[in-house]
Amino acid sequence: MNIEERINRLRKEIAYHSKRYYENDAPEISDFEYDKMFEELKRLEEENPELYSESSPTQRVGGKALDKFEKVKHEVKMASLTDVFDFDELRAFIRRVKLEVGGDTEFSVEPKIDGLSVSLKYENGILKVGATRGDGTTGEDVTANIKTIRSIPLELNKNDSITVRGEVYMPHKSFEKLNREKEENGENLWANPRNAAAGSLRCLDSKETAKRGLDIFVFNYQAGELEGVETHKQTIEKIASLGFKTIPLLYVGNDEDEIINAVIKLGEDRPSLDFDIDGTVIKVNSLQKRRELGEGTSTPKWAVAYKFPPEQKKTRLLDIVIQVGRTGVLTPNAVLEPVRLAGTSVSRATLHNIDIIKEKDIRIGDNVIVQKAGDIIPEVVGSVKEDRTGEESPYNMPDKCPSCGGNLTYDDADDFVDDGTDFTLGALRCTNPSCPAQLERNITHFASKKAMNIEGVGGKLVKALLENHLIHDASDLYYLSKEDIASLERMGEKSADNFISSVEASKKMGLARVIYALGIRHIGEVASGELASKFGTIDALFNATEEEIKEIGDFGDVMAKSVVEFFKKDETRYIVERLKNAGVKTSEEVKELSNEFEGLTFVLTGTLENMTRDEASEMIKARGGKVSSSVSAKTDYVLAGEAAGSKLTKAQSLGVKIIDKEAFLEMCK
Ligand code: IVH
Repeated sequence: MNIEERINRLRKEIAYHSKRYYENDAPEISDFEYDKMFEELKRLEEENPELYSESSPTQRVGGKALDKFEKVKHEVKMASLTDVFDFDELRAFIRRVKLEVGGDTEFSVEPKIDGLSVSLKYENGILKVGATRGDGTTGEDVTANIKTIRSIPLELNKNDSITVRGEVYMPHKSFEKLNREKEENGENLWANPRNAAAGSLRCLDSKETAKRGLDIFVFNYQAGELEGVETHKQTIEKIASLGFKTIPLLYVGNDEDEIINAVIKLGEDRPSLDFDIDGTVIKVNSLQKRRELGEGTSTPKWAVAYKFPPEQKKTRLLDIVIQVGRTGVLTPNAVLEPVRLAGTSVSRATLHNIDIIKEKDIRIGDNVIVQKAGDIIPEVVGSVKEDRTGEESPYNMPDKCPSCGGNLTYDDADDFVDDGTDFTLGALRCTNPSCPAQLERNITHFASKKAMNIEGVGGKLVKALLENHLIHDASDLYYLSKEDIASLERMGEKSADNFISSVEASKKMGLARVIYALGIRHIGEVASGELASKFGTIDALFNATEEEIKEIGDFGDVMAKSVVEFFKKDETRYIVERLKNAGVKTSEEVKELSNEFEGLTFVLTGTLENMTRDEASEMIKARGGKVSSSVSAKTDYVLAGEAAGSKLTKAQSLGVKIIDKEAFLEMCK
């Protein structure tokens, strides 16, 4: 056997045994034997670079790190799905489709995997490009990372040239292992498997991705020839025969009730799956009928995603502790017996405010139901009264601030302003302006990503700086020396250098960020941007009257008053002077505006993929549109991303047009 034959032989054998091991969980040879073959192949390939092959199993372990990902334009747009939230809406979809393309129309039901969408392009059977979805039109080339996913064939069973689409996800097993390692190293944990999968697929070093244990389900073919295929079911079977791990089809048929039952059944099975799902996808089976139904602006008319209500679990409420927020609001937090929920272990959850504890009669020692709102922030939904033993004790909020002993006031519902800055309904608030807990949170907010974005300055560092009397307010961050930082425990030269350079970089952030960073009550990111565009400099804000402020359309009495009062305070003048003296930019350039969006008001909610809210706001304003912080009947569009919350619900109830990022980008073209 010559070297080339030996290499080919090894490649075939390794691919076979790797599949047995990773996918079928049924190895035929020992790890030792496998490793020996692998090492031999690696050595032979290194010695004979002319025999390189992009589909060799050695490509799965990752290669040279990249500086950045190249952009790839998708041949076929990677559309998203319309969501439905209850069975009535789902039945309405089925009926609409049947009315349009025939009562005999069949549907498939499959899990909606909570990961990230990728396209895989094969030429003559060889994997050429793996790309993220990006905005649906353009994604990023993550081929090297894609190749590390064992269930993605590097070479198909046939020499087909096709592009398929699937969802990359992180199985619970891998997620737990990853977070365990992070915990051991004292690093921040991933919030959920989806974030971990997204982060892992976007590592510039594919060797790192290779360690993350990612997996995929393929659910669609995007382009290329699939001969003799007329239905989705056949597509999936065909794709599977080419070597892909395909999405399980839970039901294919015509009966409305059976479709609903398949959805319910998946909901019941959800807790026992080794991966996160966030819903069910219901698709028209016939490809011809799909063509007849066609596509909407960014979603096909032949499919919908039924989104599951948030996963709930029962656990014990061990204690209630109070957290003092930056505006002095006291938030009761539940300390829970750890429970697994939507991919993570939950031991803390918010109880929102004292009224909710009273209203729902939640007692320490109760069994409580917890859920993750928008699958992100855990919250206590209520207590299970039937489980009570009589040992439970009702909770009373403290009558003094637990941080400083200061007096408390109570804001009731009439005061409530939904401005995205604070949830103040029925809140107890500490009235002491120099309350240390508030100060700490205020300064942390000042440095946070959306505010001055001073990297590396989080709660822990701020706490240490305050405790060592190195700072007294946010402006002091600009007067710290490298030595000050290095003097802190667990802070070395390098961290001190990084601190100094991120503080320096933050000086250029501009007026909108400075206003937001100052943490004025009721003034969120959007409102800060509006103030900056209207007043141009921070000095102008010191002289602004409530009337002038209210000229900004969506500023009401409460917000305008809050701004005026804030700038009346001596403390504000002091901090702003110190910021200016340190060289922080406190003015905004006036930009040339076009006017396609003139007269249109947008509200942003949720997280947009690959786009910050600031970027979206900029795009709207640059076209003459307005960005408002709250939804009303006057709102023209709500731009909704992932995990959109109450604003989306409100928009739905008011019949305001809701658009996703793709539709928005379309409008901006
Ligand atoms: S079909 C043109 N099927 O959900 C239709 N999508 O909100 C393409 N997803 O971006 C989507 N599991 O990343 C489809 N079984 C499944 C899915 C699925 C997860 C994701 C996909 C898409 C998002 C839509």
